[in-house]
Amino acid sequence: MEFPRTRMRRYRKSEAIRDLVAETDVKPEDLVYPVFVREDGRRDEIDSMPGQRYHSVGSLIEEVGKLLDKGLKAFILFGVPEKKDPEGRSAADPEGVVQRAVRALKDEYGDEVVVITDVCLCQYTTHGHCGIVDEDTGKILNDPTLEVLAEVALSHAEAGADVVAPSDMMDGRVGVIRERLEEEGFDDVLIMSYAAKYHSAFYGPFREAAESAPEFGDRSTYQMDPRCLRQAMMEMELDVEEGADILMVKPALPYLDVIREARRRFDHPIAAYQVSGEYSMIKAAASEGYIDEKAAVLETLTSIKRAGADIILTYFAPEVVGWLSEGS
Ligand code: PBG
Repeated sequence: MEFPRTRMRRYRKSEAIRDLVAETDVKPEDLVYPVFVREDGRRDEIDSMPGQRYHSVGSLIEEVGKLLDKGLKAFILFGVPEKKDPEGRSAADPEGVVQRAVRALKDEYGDEVVVITDVCLCQYTTHGHCGIVDEDTGKILNDPTLEVLAEVALSHAEAGADVVAPSDMMDGRVGVIRERLEEEGFDDVLIMSYAAKYHSAFYGPFREAAESAPEFGDRSTYQMDPRCLRQAMMEMELDVEEGADILMVKPALPYLDVIREARRRFDHPIAAYQVSGEYSMIKAAASEGYIDEKAAVLETLTSIKRAGADIILTYFAPEVVGWLSEGS
């Protein structure tokens, strides 16, 4: 390559040429929209996440219908239950809000919609941790938690979930869930594991929204240390061996190197979660007029795809499908 035989600006001469040579594309069918369903049915705005609202089962059905028409097909459900208990057992209640929402969505839209459920205990435990806590030591117990997680995943599959997504970061949970699903005849339910889920400051707005902040301590004994990339590859390798179908990196933008490395090493679909803090930062900056929201959002999503993600979970999904259908 040598100037002037090679002039990079030739690729940028017009929009049509830029489109012709573009390497990355954000499409509505790559996006997953995370939604919060409240058991008490309240439909307030979520303070920590401007532009996002809680759903009741009824309002969720309505909203999903509208978004399906615009080409947004995949949704991940988070429940906000009325009652909590120390072991988060109510997360597996067949009449729980997530299970009811899944049934209603599948009844209404069948295979047109992809219903993903977050499998975790933190919204359902009184202490807000993602696993069972030893009362004497305050330790988060790994192995006793696995059985509860398998119950939760099974209850979601029974309700009709297409994909279950364990986000707790207990060791061995993918294997236990996979085994349980096989035993019960749910061999076609996918597992999207939050394989490389980091201990991140960017989950703050979500925890406020989901009422799931830990009451004591933090999640650093189970979520990944942000200083580690190789451990993320070990996490993914384990999840693959245990039967995961889709591997997730979370958060997205601060961990593009992890997405890239995952893409290089694994042939599995790679998902990236643009988390609540990433969302609310852009919203806040845009509302102050510091950045242009649409341009900033599309740039971040493009970067996440360019790094190697096939699937992006993002709270911006409805806005993005709107923009994309305007042909911009
Ligand atoms: C539950 C869970 C969390 C998120 C997704 N699933 C919170 C946490 O781990 O504390 C965060 C999502 C977001 O910030 O948008 N374990």
